[in-house]
Order: sequence, then C-alpha cells, then structure tokens
Amino acid sequence: MYTKVVYFLTSFCLSVLALDIGDTCITPNGEVANCIQHTECHVIKNAILSRVEGAKPFAQKSKCGNIGKSPLVCCGTTAKFMTIAPPKKCTTPNGESASCVPLSSCKLISDALETHDNDAEKFAKESHCGHEREQLVCCGSEAYPLRTNLLPNRTVCGEQTGVVRIMGGEETKILEFPWMALLMYNFHNGSHAGFRCGGSVINNRYVLTAAHCVSISENLPIYLNKVRLGEWKISTVEDCDEEFPSNCADPVIDLNIEEKIVHPQYKLGEGKNDIALLRLERNIEYTNSIRPICLPVGESPDPRSRSEMYVAGWGATENSSSSDVKLKLKLQIASRSYCNERLNSIGGVDFTQICAGGKRGEDSCKGDSGGPLMRSSTSENLNANPKWFQEGIVSRGIHCGIRGVPGIYARVAYYMHWIIDNLRSF
Ligand SMILES: *[C@@H]1O[C@H](CO)[C@@H](O)[C@H](O)[C@H]1NC(C)=O
Ligand SMILES: *[C@@H]1O[C@H](CO)[C@@H](O)[C@H](O)[C@H]1NC(C)=O
Ligand SMILES: *[C@@H]1O[C@H](CO)[C@@H](O)[C@H](O)[C@H]1NC(C)=O
Repeated sequence: MYTKVVYFLTSFCLSVLALDIGDTCITPNGEVANCIQHTECHVIKNAILSRVEGAKPFAQKSKCGNIGKSPLVCCGTTAKFMTIAPPKKCTTPNGESASCVPLSSCKLISDALETHDNDAEKFAKESHCGHEREQLVCCGSEAYPLRTNLLPNRTVCGEQTGVVRIMGGEETKILEFPWMALLMYNFHNGSHAGFRCGGSVINNRYVLTAAHCVSISENLPIYLNKVRLGEWKISTVEDCDEEFPSNCADPVIDLNIEEKIVHPQYKLGEGKNDIALLRLERNIEYTNSIRPICLPVGESPDPRSRSEMYVAGWGATENSSSSDVKLKLKLQIASRSYCNERLNSIGGVDFTQICAGGKRGEDSCKGDSGGPLMRSSTSENLNANPKWFQEGIVSRGIHCGIRGVPGIYARVAYYMHWIIDNLRSF
C-alpha cells in the first residue's frame, strides 16, 4: 500500500512550484498549510488508503516539492475537494499583512514557541487573531518583534509602487528597488571620482553599506563624499518610464554624510564585519523613488540554500561603475560547504556571511558593492503583496566575470544588534 501511494504521487505531478519541507503552501482547497513529507500527512495518506472518492486527484494536486524521490504534499485539514472559506486577513505585531490561520499550520510561530523564548511567546500572544477548534495566529514571515522604533515597521518598508510583480529581464523598471543608494566619491584634490559603491535606505536618516566602501585603502586616492538617492538612469537628469514617457520619477537627491559608522571590528582588506552605516545630513521624505527596505529581525534563520535572492545596482565597485541604468539579477543562495570549497583562497565564509550566486549567468557585476542582497517575502506569505527584505550586503567576491565563483555577503540578520545600537533618533 505504502509504495502505491508513493508511486502515483511521483508519477502524476511533475511540474509544480517546488517548495521545501516546512514552507507555507496553499492546498487545492485554498487552505494555508505546510509542505511536508507525504508519509507525515495523515489526512491524505488515510484518505487514499481508505479509498475516499477523489482522494487521489486531490493528493496529486497537493504535491508541493520533493525530497530526493519522496514527494512533499501541502497538508491541510481535508483530502478532498471542497469549499473552505479563505483565511481572514490580519496584521502581524510587526505590521505585516498576513493570514489568520491555526497555530499548528503556522510553522514559523510554532517552531519559535518550541524554543520557549520569552520574546517568541510574547510575539505569539500578540499574533492571536481568533479561535476555531484551536488558537488562530496571524502568520506572516516573522516570529519575533522588531526591537526598535527607529526602523520602519512592515507597513512602511520593503514596498515598491508601480511594480507589482517581478518581471523578467535584467533592466529594472523605473520605480523598482527604490531603496538603492549610490555612493559618490571625490579624489583628494576635490574633483569627482564617480560612483563606486551602492547602499540601501533603511529609514529616513540612514543608509546601510559595506565597510570597504567607507574605509578605503590609501592606495586609492579617493574618499566617500555624498550619497545619491532616487537614481535610475545616471545619464539623464529626469528619469522617465520608457514605455510611459509621462511617468517620471522625482529628481534625484544628493546628500552630504553627517556621520560614517564603520563596524569597529572591520579590518581593511579583510572580508569580515564588512558593514557600515551612513547617517545623512538631514531626514528624507519617502517618495515613489526613495523608500526604505525592510531589515530582518536578528533571529531570522539563515537563508536556505537554493532560495531565491536578488541583487540590483549599477555595477559599482571601488574601482568604477559599469551600467548607466539600474540593473537587477536573480541568484540563488549557495551552501556554506560549497562556498568554502570555492572560496578557500580568500578564507571561506562563516556564520556572519552569506554566499550566493556562482551559477552560469549569475554575474554579480550587476549588483553594487555595498548594495543589498534582497529577498521577496511572497514565498512565505502567499497572501500579501511582495515585500522586500535585505538579507545581505554585497561584500567581496572574486567579483565580476568569473563563472562558477559565488559572491560573499555580510549577513544582515547577524548584525541587527549592531545596526540598532548605532542608530540615533532623527
Ligand atoms: C507602522 O508605522 C506607521 C508609520 O510610522 C504607523 O502609522 C503604524 O501605526 C505602524 N503600525 C504598526 C502595526 O506598528
Ligand atoms: C585630481 O586627481 C585625480 C586623480 O589623482 C586626477 O585624475 C584629476 O585630474 C585631478 N583633478 C584636478 C582638478 O587636479
Ligand atoms: C579594484 O582594483 C584593485 C586593483 O586593481 C583590485 O585588487 C580589486 O580586486 C578591484 N576591486 C574590485 C571589486 O573589482
């Protein structure tokens, strides 16, 4: 019997969106559930074994991935087609819009509760959104609170206007990734040295970047002078949409830097602690072309290997910038063991870093040094608009042009305490 169940699951559903164990998924009935091993999903297993009518096609439609040859299923509360009221919308304690679902279907919160962490328990309590047979919780993409009111909450950050879904192609749309900042350098004699790094807007006063973009080797006769926000196409004064020319972004703003805060343990020329904050000369107003990205909470898990990330930018590095228009690139997280093998010559990667890319076509030259490694929240929270989180800071690579070599990113979640400790109120 057991093999039969496996057989028909593997043989019928070949091309479905592949998720991993524990990912949030939607059942064929529209229920929010978890993607688990089919052998663990008693609802579906029992329905097939007791030949419930319609159970087989339902099981086929429920497939959500594979672990080796073993299929995963989206395991809800029923194993036959029926109308189930969609879950109510709710807002998480961090301000994210999400779905109100049974606690047992919200793996993120139930896992966090198992650690008996006080903050997780408090967060779960505040996530309570009703009761139906069991407790309902507002299940978004986080199980821990933001620890500061100096960073924007999830109703404000990570949103882009005008671009609802990620389009293919490598050129960005005019209002895509509005948190991208360009860092402007001068030569010591005062003349302009161009854009040589990127960064990200994290609130209305600070830009996050890499330490190596701020602390510069004496061999390069340049210093970081200003920050440009709201840029898309460097060569045009007014940026307008190519398809809808009347759709123009506000002019860029160039700001002086009031304070440069480099991680105290960063050492010039080494890859660790490659993180810095720039406090701008004044508070900025958010517009369609200047908005903050969401930073993860410190407890966020390491991004899973093969999960999808983006980098964006003008290809700016300490040495030059290479593109006139903001570009983007999709890439995958690579496992630390793979990276340690490939990047052995420069010391490998540790838990303070993330490694990504390195596949054919994943050429990190399209991102900026100091710019963000980003993920969209849609994979965890299927009912909300995509919201963007910054998981990494483009740190070092054996940069452009070398295929098969992944890039190294400072892991933002690891540095959240440092970031929060170094923000001053506006
Ligand atoms: C999020 O921040 C906005 C603007 O500061 C505020 O109006 C809103 O009440 C906050 N929402 C939550 C859930 O904290
Ligand atoms: C300033 O220095 C840079 C690099 O050393 C040089 O290329 C540039 O011509 C100099 N500009 C002036 C105005 O002297
Ligand atoms: C910049 O140029 C220096 C000297 O040529 C080189 O060592 C370094 O790797 C370059 N940096 C990047 C990011 O390409």
